[in-house]
Amino acid sequence: MNAVASGWTAIRGALLTFDGDPFVDDAQACRYEPDAIVAMAHGRIVDCGAADVVAARLPPDTPITRYRDALISAGFIDAHVHYPQLPVIGAGGKPLLEWLTSHTFPTEARYADIDYARDVALRYVDENLRHGITTAAVFGTVHPQSIDALFDECARRDMRMIGGKALMDRHAPADLLDTASRGYDESKALIARWHQRDRLAYAITPRFAATSTPEQLAAAAALWRETPGAYLQSHVAENRAEVEWIASLFPNDARYLDVYDRFGLLGKRAIYAHGIHLDDADFARLAETGTALAHCPTSNNFLGSGLFALHRARSAGRPVNVALGTDLGAGTSFSMLRTMQAASEVAHLQGRPLSPLCAWWLATQGAARALDLDDAIGTVAPGREADLVVIDLRSTPLIDFRMRDVERIDDALAVQMALGDDRAIRATYVHGRLAWDRDAQV
Ligand code: GUN
Ligand code: ZN
Repeated sequence: MNAVASGWTAIRGALLTFDGDPFVDDAQACRYEPDAIVAMAHGRIVDCGAADVVAARLPPDTPITRYRDALISAGFIDAHVHYPQLPVIGAGGKPLLEWLTSHTFPTEARYADIDYARDVALRYVDENLRHGITTAAVFGTVHPQSIDALFDECARRDMRMIGGKALMDRHAPADLLDTASRGYDESKALIARWHQRDRLAYAITPRFAATSTPEQLAAAAALWRETPGAYLQSHVAENRAEVEWIASLFPNDARYLDVYDRFGLLGKRAIYAHGIHLDDADFARLAETGTALAHCPTSNNFLGSGLFALHRARSAGRPVNVALGTDLGAGTSFSMLRTMQAASEVAHLQGRPLSPLCAWWLATQGAARALDLDDAIGTVAPGREADLVVIDLRSTPLIDFRMRDVERIDDALAVQMALGDDRAIRATYVHGRLAWDRDAQV
């Protein structure tokens, strides 16, 4: 069978992927191949490995795109982002609660208009591809049409994406409020329209415990229980004033995480952003329940929220599932390279350096595990969906200069994180299709 009949295509370059958790053993977990071929067909990876070995197995005439000075990786996963907040990126200088009321809520009110939502959703999805992000867990606004706009665009690109409309029935401007029953009904209708259609999955999205009444948290939990495969996403313990506010709103719960726990909102496929002001007992409960944390370092730095204790969360024996999030628009970068760099710096500030391989894992296979998607994405291996990013290792004159002294893969990753950004994203593949080609743009 020739390549046209088989539907195979292939790419060639260096390859980095993971067989296991590098927090346990860096060297064992990482698979690096300086000259590899990754073959794809019908949206999946069908073969990969050393170029000379794979080349001999390819159907004749398989087209091979060769990327020189480039690294092929599983596509990046952004485990926490608010696409409607793109218009407030960089508007700040305020801590979380003031930032929400002065910048974020007024902007989110604009998404009552589906045309506005479509405009931003298009830009958001384009930016993901320009940054090598192939999957994200995305907050909409309270308006269901914000999610219709997002999922329409993601379905068109055949992307594996997670999203949900925000549930918020108190402590926000009137035009951003639903009610417990309306939020439930609107989420249910979105689930019927989008959940598990193509590569999309729905996330029930109580914004945080301050903007949902106990009735709404209970309704969210009921909907989550009734919807197989659905996600639950929210925020926890991001900022000290927020933590105190939650304590005053839920005086019978000893700690912030207990609120979500009591309502049945912890478990596999639950993703909580931040978790800065949590202690070891909270981390143990997150690990025990399989709940994931999205670490969003550029956001935490921008809002002055604090330093996430990644080393404590990932403590051996009971590691919490952690992924990285951009948390746009409180986050300041779309780039997962910049986000990895920020995570490394936040770790370093606590005297617990994060290795470049661990940072890369948190944005790929670690995130896929945290999102319960590791059978599908996050690893470059036969059978996995072909969502890939190709990093140009010499994307700027300074990076080119700096890379002359680099011999090891972990040093190369460190340079990309320190100096790289969207210019380093040479190509992005979504479900086996070239979805972004930097050099084909005019
Ligand atoms: N907590 C509740 N809502 C938000 C939000 O939109 N961004 C961040 N960073 N934290 C939140
Ligand atoms: Zn957030």
